[in-house]
Amino acid sequence: MVAVKQIALLAGLAHWADAAEKVITNDTHFYGQSPPVYPSPEMTGGNEWEAAYQKAKAFVGQLTLEEKVNLTAGVPPNTTCSGVIPAIERLKFPGMCLSDAGNGLRNTDFVSGFPSGIHVGASWSKDLAFRRAVAMGAEFRKKGVNVLLGPVVGPAGRTVRGGRNWEGFSVDPWLAGVLVSETVSGIQEQGVITSTKHYILNEQETHRMPEANVSAVSSNIDDKTMHEYYLWPFQDAVRAGSGNIMCSYQRINNSYGCSNSKTLNGLLKTELGFQGFVVSDWSAQHAGVASAEAGMDMAMPGPAEFWGEHLVEAVKNGSLPESRITDMATRIIATWYQFDQDNGIPKPGIGMPSNVLDSHEIVDARDPAAVPVLLNGAIEGHVLVKNTKNTLPLKKPRKLSLFGYSATTPDFFSPSRDEQLSDSWIFGKEAYNSNYLSPDGFATFGRNGTTFGGCGSGAITPALAISPFEALKWRAAQDGTATFNNFLSDKPDVDPTSDACIVFGNAYACEGNDRPAIQDDYTDDLIKAVASQCNKTIVVLHNAGIRLVDGFVDHPNITAVIFAHLPGQESGPALTSLLYGETSPSGRLPYTVAKNDTDYGVVLDPAQATGEFAYFPQADFKEGVYLDYRYFDKEGIEPRYEFGFGLSYTTFAYLNLSVDHVSGANTYPWPGGPIVSGGQTDLWDAIATVSVDIRNTGSVASYEVAQLYIGIPGAPAKQLRGFEKPFLRPNESQSVTFHLTRRDLSVWSVERQKWQLQQGTYKIYVGSSSRRLHVNGTLDI
Ligand SMILES: *[C@@H]1O[C@H](CO)[C@@H](O)[C@H](O)[C@H]1NC(C)=O
Ligand SMILES: *[C@@H]1O[C@H](CO)[C@@H](O)[C@H](O)[C@H]1NC(C)=O
Ligand SMILES: *[C@@H]1O[C@H](CO)[C@@H](O)[C@H](O)[C@H]1NC(C)=O
Ligand SMILES: *[C@@H]1O[C@H](CO)[C@@H](O)[C@H](O)[C@H]1NC(C)=O
Ligand SMILES: *[C@@H]1O[C@H](CO)[C@@H](O)[C@H](O)[C@H]1NC(C)=O
Ligand SMILES: *[C@@H]1O[C@H](CO)[C@@H](O)[C@H](O)[C@H]1NC(C)=O
Ligand SMILES: *[C@@H]1O[C@H](CO)[C@@H](O)[C@H](O)[C@H]1NC(C)=O
Ligand SMILES: *[C@@H]1O[C@H](CO)[C@@H](O)[C@H](O)[C@H]1NC(C)=O
Ligand SMILES: *[C@@H]1O[C@H](CO)[C@@H](O)[C@H](O)[C@H]1NC(C)=O
Ligand SMILES: *[C@@H]1O[C@H](CO)[C@@H](O)[C@H](O)[C@H]1NC(C)=O
Ligand SMILES: *[C@@H]1O[C@H](CO)[C@@H](O)[C@H](O)[C@H]1NC(C)=O
Ligand SMILES: *[C@@H]1O[C@H](CO)[C@@H](O)[C@H](O)[C@H]1NC(C)=O
Repeated sequence: MVAVKQIALLAGLAHWADAAEKVITNDTHFYGQSPPVYPSPEMTGGNEWEAAYQKAKAFVGQLTLEEKVNLTAGVPPNTTCSGVIPAIERLKFPGMCLSDAGNGLRNTDFVSGFPSGIHVGASWSKDLAFRRAVAMGAEFRKKGVNVLLGPVVGPAGRTVRGGRNWEGFSVDPWLAGVLVSETVSGIQEQGVITSTKHYILNEQETHRMPEANVSAVSSNIDDKTMHEYYLWPFQDAVRAGSGNIMCSYQRINNSYGCSNSKTLNGLLKTELGFQGFVVSDWSAQHAGVASAEAGMDMAMPGPAEFWGEHLVEAVKNGSLPESRITDMATRIIATWYQFDQDNGIPKPGIGMPSNVLDSHEIVDARDPAAVPVLLNGAIEGHVLVKNTKNTLPLKKPRKLSLFGYSATTPDFFSPSRDEQLSDSWIFGKEAYNSNYLSPDGFATFGRNGTTFGGCGSGAITPALAISPFEALKWRAAQDGTATFNNFLSDKPDVDPTSDACIVFGNAYACEGNDRPAIQDDYTDDLIKAVASQCNKTIVVLHNAGIRLVDGFVDHPNITAVIFAHLPGQESGPALTSLLYGETSPSGRLPYTVAKNDTDYGVVLDPAQATGEFAYFPQADFKEGVYLDYRYFDKEGIEPRYEFGFGLSYTTFAYLNLSVDHVSGANTYPWPGGPIVSGGQTDLWDAIATVSVDIRNTGSVASYEVAQLYIGIPGAPAKQLRGFEKPFLRPNESQSVTFHLTRRDLSVWSVERQKWQLQQGTYKIYVGSSSRRLHVNGTLDI
């Protein structure tokens, strides 16, 4: 440190010198910030888990200590399963295959590529979220996957540049909570266990893991924010029955996610009554006995570095009670029984061969019945935010000109047969969906083709994917439209006879890195180059997170803008359907688009290892629940496009708001129900209902996303607490009803450690976005 201080002083940087002097060099400083919660609660069964619990107890009762321990960690897989739990042959337990991830099965052949989490968030469709999950679960099951490593509700999206925000649904916990609940139910209906992840506060990729000289980042949070924001969607997942929860890489109040007794034993297993098992993220385990005591139940990927024979030894020498090992095994086996995996599920890893060159029976996991789900899912996650001069829908243009690197898939990404049949293909195919960012930003950005999904463990490897260009060309052929395209030039010449021009760009993201920026000049300049020559320029951005548009959006020739997110394999057909008005856009932003990146405040960037915390980076969640629209409302910042916004090809009227108490509902401030999966039962009792009539006042049939926001006394000005997506023909009207539960209307009391219903006047708003609130009223409690 002396050297650093001298250098800093020489350079005249006194504040650096001070910081260098104060650098904290060991972690003693950080101990005790996360309250200890021991012992780890044992599985109790009860309610829906009782039968599985009894079977598991009987099964585990026959195991030796070594056998129980062997259930708690992976063995090196001989398949492309991400993780494998070994079989116990003498009891006919076939073992388990755990595989990536929440947007479709990867590392294998003959599977679909579903829309990514952010796209599902943008669709605001409970129905599609559920049907996508059913279709995805069916594919995992056919391939012999016991545990699907998803869905994602952490990251929640706190860090605007976060590299994995696209894997989750929305930065709004209520929206994410509803969609995760549908997703867990749909996947598990197929007898595949969900691993809802990453628990918890895994909000940045930067320093997510410890490096040689820098510890993993710590997310430091108060108890109220934890409950009202980050734990909220996990609570919904547990309530929906998620059989598995994955603990995260980073630290929480300076204690690792997989050895934090407060989050695992306390919040998850006690307060939420979680009955399933906790698995570590891959290599997120950093302690042996401590992680067992803190409530982790399974270590991945294995071979067990900290557990295995060490765990046996720890029991034998008295440092860990055998009851904890028995509980781990019971939770794992009970979850296996809970989803009938003892009965008729394909052999673990059957469709996940390690080497497809070996002759193996091909398992084509796809179901033609899922194609409409893939297509509608792709359609409904596109968000139209600008549409002027009657640009859209297109009407048999005479000439359509297409530009930009995200329009199509270059030939060099079509793998040869040999490549397809080699090991490297399994990973090479993933690059097919990738545009890698250069470290200095965007200098070499692009040209790797259209983006169907993001990269990393949440990537998709579809057997077939149709790019926008492929679909548009087919449509042009039907209409006799001439096309002109130039996908690679960054300053293309525009044919002046073009009726409309479409420019395709993307904003890519990958696990392991946060995004360098939320806008790039290369793409903005390309868009402006086209717009300067074409008076109907349509911008389509495949964006794996928030993408600013102020660099070009007010250009008079840019007459339509679509956030196309990550649509999955049906990208092209979905976009074509929307551009030509075969369907009316019905996606809505699941985040706020600012005018300038500085508008997001401190949460724009990930926390860095600097100054005093050069070795122990600290992310202080001081903003509390004031993220995204809650923050913009509080600070009075005008967004470019607000949370919940999106255009359609028609118009809607909102009328006849009514707010009613549910008769006989208990409005005592504190819940009194027993704890089952998800927490106290009466948190879900409906206290009030809100209903509104919505009429399609335009000339085109369309879905509308009606959104309910409430202002709880003493809480943010408004928070999402309901949405419905009716389909309305012209002049048709429909009444939609929202049910407000005790939890929806409560704030977390740190003192009482319970949700507290507020006494007073609640504001009620219903509208088509967080700022287009067409009708309002009040609710008195
Ligand atoms: C850790 O650092 C503190 C000062 O910050 C020092 O007092 C303590 O002795 C150090 N502990 C170890 C184990 O080095
Ligand atoms: C983190 O620390 C804060 C402040 O001491 C405390 O209120 C909160 O409960 C802690 N949470 C966890 C998960 O350790
Ligand atoms: C437990 O796993 C180890 C490592 O895979 C293996 O060598 C051992 O035989 C297993 N023990 C039992 C009792 O199955
Ligand atoms: C007991 O075994 C564990 C695991 O090998 C080891 O970490 C611990 O130091 C041992 N304790 C004693 C008292 O021998
Ligand atoms: C993997 O190993 C298991 C158990 O040894 C065996 O049954 C299975 O056939 C192997 N799978 C492959 C793809 O080699
Ligand atoms: C495409 O991606 C690869 C990384 O997979 C990169 O090496 C290459 O430079 C990219 N090509 C272009 C033209 O950006
Ligand atoms: C708009 O496009 C037309 C070509 O259609 C071009 O002449 C004009 O300069 C463009 N306007 C701007 C502001 O670039
Ligand atoms: C837009 O450009 C087209 C083709 O150059 C031209 O025919 C048309 O008049 C222009 N429209 C406007 C409003 O400038
Ligand atoms: C944000 O505003 C600053 C100051 O006006 C400007 O320099 C910067 O380019 C803007 N950033 C973006 C991404 O628009
Ligand atoms: C940690 O090591 C890296 C690579 O050696 C070095 O660049 C960095 O400055 C080191 N950080 C600290 C805080 O010592
Ligand atoms: C609003 O309520 C009135 C009176 O009940 C009814 O006539 C009208 O149709 C309703 N409006 C809509 C759009 O349903
Ligand atoms: C509530 O609606 C009325 C019109 O019915 C409007 O005048 C008022 O501004 C709205 N209040 C809020 C807070 O949006």
